[in-house]
Amino acid sequence: MLTVAVPIAVPIAVPIAVPIAVPIAVALAVVAVLVSLPYWLPRRVVALRERVFARINGDEGIPVPGGLAGVDRFRELYSHPAANGRSRGAALSDLFWYWLSPGPEMHQEHLEPGERYDAVARTTRSLLAVPKAEAEELARRCAARRLEGVRGMVRLRDLMMPLWAEFAYELVFAEPCPREARDLIAANADDVVTSLKCTGLRHMDRRDRLTRYLLPRLDKVRVPLPDGLTPLEQAYYLQGAFFNTAVVQLSEGMAHLLLVLARHPEEQERARTSDDRHFDRVINETLRLYPLFGIAHRITSGDIALDEHTTIPAGSVLCFNYPEFHRAGFADPDRFDPGRFDRPAKELNHIPFGVAANRPCPAWRLAPIVMRVVAREVLDRYVLDSSVSHTRSLPSRGPCLLTPRGAPHRPRLALAYMRVRDRWEDVWRSLVQLVLGTYMVWDAHRLRLCERHFAEAAARDPAEERHPAEEGDPAETEAPTAAEAPDRTTDAPDRATDAPDRTTDAPDASDAFDAENRYAHHGRHPGSRRTR
Ligand code: HEM
Repeated sequence: MLTVAVPIAVPIAVPIAVPIAVPIAVALAVVAVLVSLPYWLPRRVVALRERVFARINGDEGIPVPGGLAGVDRFRELYSHPAANGRSRGAALSDLFWYWLSPGPEMHQEHLEPGERYDAVARTTRSLLAVPKAEAEELARRCAARRLEGVRGMVRLRDLMMPLWAEFAYELVFAEPCPREARDLIAANADDVVTSLKCTGLRHMDRRDRLTRYLLPRLDKVRVPLPDGLTPLEQAYYLQGAFFNTAVVQLSEGMAHLLLVLARHPEEQERARTSDDRHFDRVINETLRLYPLFGIAHRITSGDIALDEHTTIPAGSVLCFNYPEFHRAGFADPDRFDPGRFDRPAKELNHIPFGVAANRPCPAWRLAPIVMRVVAREVLDRYVLDSSVSHTRSLPSRGPCLLTPRGAPHRPRLALAYMRVRDRWEDVWRSLVQLVLGTYMVWDAHRLRLCERHFAEAAARDPAEERHPAEEGDPAETEAPTAAEAPDRTTDAPDRATDAPDRTTDAPDASDAFDAENRYAHHGRHPGSRRTR
């Protein structure tokens, strides 16, 4: 039989006002804490995340600018011939290799100086050496295709990624990008940037699918690929430089550019109707406020004397802080003001594409040209509005309202909704970033992809023990002042038109992939005995 317990009234010994007042006060406090969460929690969580990262990574880095060298020595140190190690010897590299896998050992950004680096950098320059008018036309075509039928609320990074995927594909293969390739490239790039921002974990299957797609197509690349690389290494090189870095950086750069215009309506209108010179100021100022690199690190291959008492010893990790350098020397540095670039950019603390003497971005000419074209295509079609917070890392992917020009433009309600949603997403996202970021930093530390790579290379060939910097001069490159609109997009020789001679066929390449990709993901070389 079902029995029901009936509560028996207990005489209350205390005055009635207290028990009512207490729960009300507690409820009000809870509501106040909840409502105020978006205003304080994300900031605290970001600070906590940084502390956790620093704890796991160790405090190996020398920040520049910082206590040892200020803003005035920033360029000098960055350009120093001994500041030329890229990966070996820094715990930070394990983290970057983890995020940029598969094939981080073939990523141009992370190759040590030497013959292999030179060959890869030459190939990148050839692929980027497109006549300016051709690059503009290609960007325009990709934008027109992507923007067809788009309107309403979008996330700018997501909007841009398939566009730049098609652009990068056509740069590399000189033929229109098939839909399958576009989706694979966008999925790869999105996975990389999502994990970099700690808003999601790595999905190596998505990235591997692209590698598999590229392997049988290496002989279709429009310039000869670097000699002395296996087909898998060639695929990793292409995937790293063009289908990861190029797509991620252009998508992020465009998300910042369009978001800044969406949040500054008067600048938006001015940019839309302005000449290219003004537009370049807008791009320069966007990349000053929101540089795509937070920190670029270098490992010193020799001592660097700062003064008669202070020397930075060989093997130090220098961490060049872009946002801090870009704020120094500007009045009201957090304000968006393209007018700052009425002066030549090279006179200002402005290095969005790195420094000329130390491996600057090979796309420093091409990128602003094609970004300008795509931004104009967007502004010609839409009025942009946004009310979200705009930070350098932009984990929100840039929510924005696109209203077709000529359509009724009444964004007030949509913007109010967007603002509230963004604040609450920030709360959730900052917690996700804390948890996933901590896990990935720990996992990268555990896998030690970079450290193991060099240890195993040294075990195979003791000559590898030498720092590559001892083998040759640091690369000399031209000064990357942004947006000078030259006729060609790099200084590389005319692009090669001959089809490269290839002897390897796809099945072999895929076999190699199956064996080697285990190493890329788990830090085990196929020849190594180590087990997990
Ligand atoms: C808005 C767009 C871009 C920005 C702001 C940008 C920024 C940068 C910066 C600051 C560096 C140097 C970092 C360092 O000193 O370690 C760099 C390096 C690099 N970038 Fe870009 N980048 C952009 C687009 C591209 C594109 C379209 C490509 C296409 C291939 C590209 C490929 C590379 C490569 C391969 C490196 C490594 C260079 C080397 O170590 O030799 N970037 N980028």
